[in-house]
Amino acid sequence: MGPHLLETERLVLRRWRREDHRPFAAICADPDVMEFVGNGSTLTARQASGLIGRFEKAWDEHGYGLFAVELRGTNQLIGFTGLARPGFMPELLPSVEIGWRFGKAHWGKGYATEAAAEALAFAIRSPAIGEIVSICQPGNVASTRIMRKIGLEFDRRGTDPTCNREVVVYRLPR
Ligand SMILES: CC(C)(COP(=O)(O)OP(=O)(O)OC[C@H]1O[C@@H](n2cnc3c(N)ncnc32)[C@H](O)[C@@H]1OP(=O)(O)O)[C@@H](O)C(=O)NCCC(=O)NCCS
Repeated sequence: MGPHLLETERLVLRRWRREDHRPFAAICADPDVMEFVGNGSTLTARQASGLIGRFEKAWDEHGYGLFAVELRGTNQLIGFTGLARPGFMPELLPSVEIGWRFGKAHWGKGYATEAAAEALAFAIRSPAIGEIVSICQPGNVASTRIMRKIGLEFDRRGTDPTCNREVVVYRLPR
């Protein structure tokens, strides 16, 4: 098992592939998925592909990034989780952000928590990663619940300057 291929009971976390572009575009075109992401706008297929390109570039540059998540035994992308540099809130740097986004058909089964816990374990054993935070909009109750379930604690309120929406920041206690 390579360092960028992780397995849980039900899921595989891996680097992104060509075949992920179409299902990822469908996830990001869903207004329910995007409700609490930035200003809540859905993405075009081109924007979603651009994001995958940025995820892969981050992996190459930092040695950590956002994993494509698939169900074990399928080749089906269901979402992402993993680590990103929260450059949109520079006051949080050099902390690294853990985040997630899953297709609606796969909500409510505990996949996001299962994947995020594995990504957090990856972050904790990565020498390049120090403090770990997670950021979400206060209405995003499911994300707040995941943050608490994987062991993060409330740190502070803030504003996402890219969309002027309020956010809550959670942090992994030392
Ligand atoms: C956030 C997201 C990944 C959660 O997916 P999920 O499949 O519901 O996640 P899980 O099943 O692992 O766990 C979610 C937890 O939140 C709870 N939850 C889910 N929706 C909820 C809601 N509307 N109100 C209250 N609790 C909720 C679940 O009950 C579960 O907690 P529990 O195990 O204590 O019962 C999914 O909703 C998503 O992809 N949303 C869009 C993208 C997004 O907002 N990403 C984060 C941006 S910061």
